[in-house]
Amino acid sequence: MNDIKTILVPVDGSEGSDRAVDFAINLAQIYKAKLDFLYVANINQLAINACLSDAILDAVTKAGDAVLDGALAKVPQDVESEAFSETGSPAVTILEFAEDNKNDMIVMGSRGLGVVKGVLLGSVSQYVVENAKVPVSIVK
Ligand SMILES: Nc1ncnc2c1ncn2[C@@H]1O[C@H](COP(=O)(O)OP(=O)(O)OP(=O)(O)O)[C@@H](O)[C@H]1O
Ligand SMILES: [Mg+2]
Repeated sequence: MNDIKTILVPVDGSEGSDRAVDFAINLAQIYKAKLDFLYVANINQLAINACLSDAILDAVTKAGDAVLDGALAKVPQDVESEAFSETGSPAVTILEFAEDNKNDMIVMGSRGLGVVKGVLLGSVSQYVVENAKVPVSIVK
């Protein structure tokens, strides 16, 4: 069994992501691992709909901070955790972060904030589970 020292938990503030945070906390206690929470602001998608003003960027940053603060607040004192924020395509950015940061596994929700229901995996979780080089746990 691989030694699990750090677990990457990509969070988007959805119910699925919240369940992934709870599950990751349990795993971190078992493995004595550190949790790295990552929020990716999908700036490219926003740019299609709006010319990016400072106000919009500010709002996106605040939304991400709120998601990350929510995750950090759930973590008990005996578990080490850190929050990170990146911009770009969530799927690609999550994988790049995991490789750069040498995370030993990824824990994420099956679905996120997307409105299409009835599909098992969202596009981000599907891309990550197909392309990650480390074990991925999808929380339903
Ligand atoms: N912007 C993001 N930053 C960090 N993690 C994310 C982000 N978006 C999704 N995730 C992670 O991926 C999981 C699955 O979300 P995903 O986006 O794949 O589903 P969806 O929103 O239902 O579908 P889609 O985005 O394809 O419409 C989430 O529970 C969360 O763990
Ligand atoms: Mg989504």
